[in-house]
Amino acid sequence: MAERPLIAPSILSADFARLGEEIAAVAHPGETRADWVHVDVMDAHFVPNLTLGLPVVESLLKSTDVPVDCHLMIDDPDRWAIGYAEAGAYNVTVHVEAAANPVKLAKNLRAAGAKAGLSIKPGTPLEPHLETLKHYDTLLVMSVEPGFGGQSFMPDVLDKVRTARRLVDTGHLKLVVEIDGGINADTIEQAAEAGVDCFVAGSAVYGAQDPGKAVAALREQAARHRAG
Ligand code: DX5
Ligand code: ZN
Repeated sequence: MAERPLIAPSILSADFARLGEEIAAVAHPGETRADWVHVDVMDAHFVPNLTLGLPVVESLLKSTDVPVDCHLMIDDPDRWAIGYAEAGAYNVTVHVEAAANPVKLAKNLRAAGAKAGLSIKPGTPLEPHLETLKHYDTLLVMSVEPGFGGQSFMPDVLDKVRTARRLVDTGHLKLVVEIDGGINADTIEQAAEAGVDCFVAGSAVYGAQDPGKAVAALREQAARHRAG
């Protein structure tokens, strides 16, 4: 398990005209600093929404030293994900529902210097993908249907978190367990108790008056409710 809970603000809920400043607001040294910045790439095919792509991510990477966590909600990640790794993203997550050859994809992402992440939608079971996950560094459990910020947390997905936590703690998998969707002060404790390492939070951070303080408060709350 990571030494302390990781908080990854999602810029999906930030002001897109001021992305550099919005990231800087959670990049000051200390408790208010984000561990990762979560960037949601959507292609209007895999999900019914369109956000941003590689050129914007390349600019963001130049503007911050906070590790960038790219969540690719796109078709054909086998073709497109590598560019984000080559650009210098810390972690590149693809969807298992979209990847044709997720094992080869993970190897390519790692060879390009990134951590490889695999995401599963709320309705996707974990068990069929356990062998594949041996090749990955991060498991992103979606706790909303991917596509939009500000949706309600789906507690049923925590069974998948518990399974992943157990497999990591017993040495069968080596993964950062990340959760994405509906994480806020009302939901982070149950996710922490289930064994999440890294918490994505969009509206709970960028909807707050002070995004940095929201990062610190969420981390503190998660730390008090950690599994084990
Ligand atoms: C949804 C995205 C999330 C989103 C989370 O498809 O993957 O990262 O930004 O937003 P909140 O925290 O508001 O649910
Ligand atoms: Zn996301």
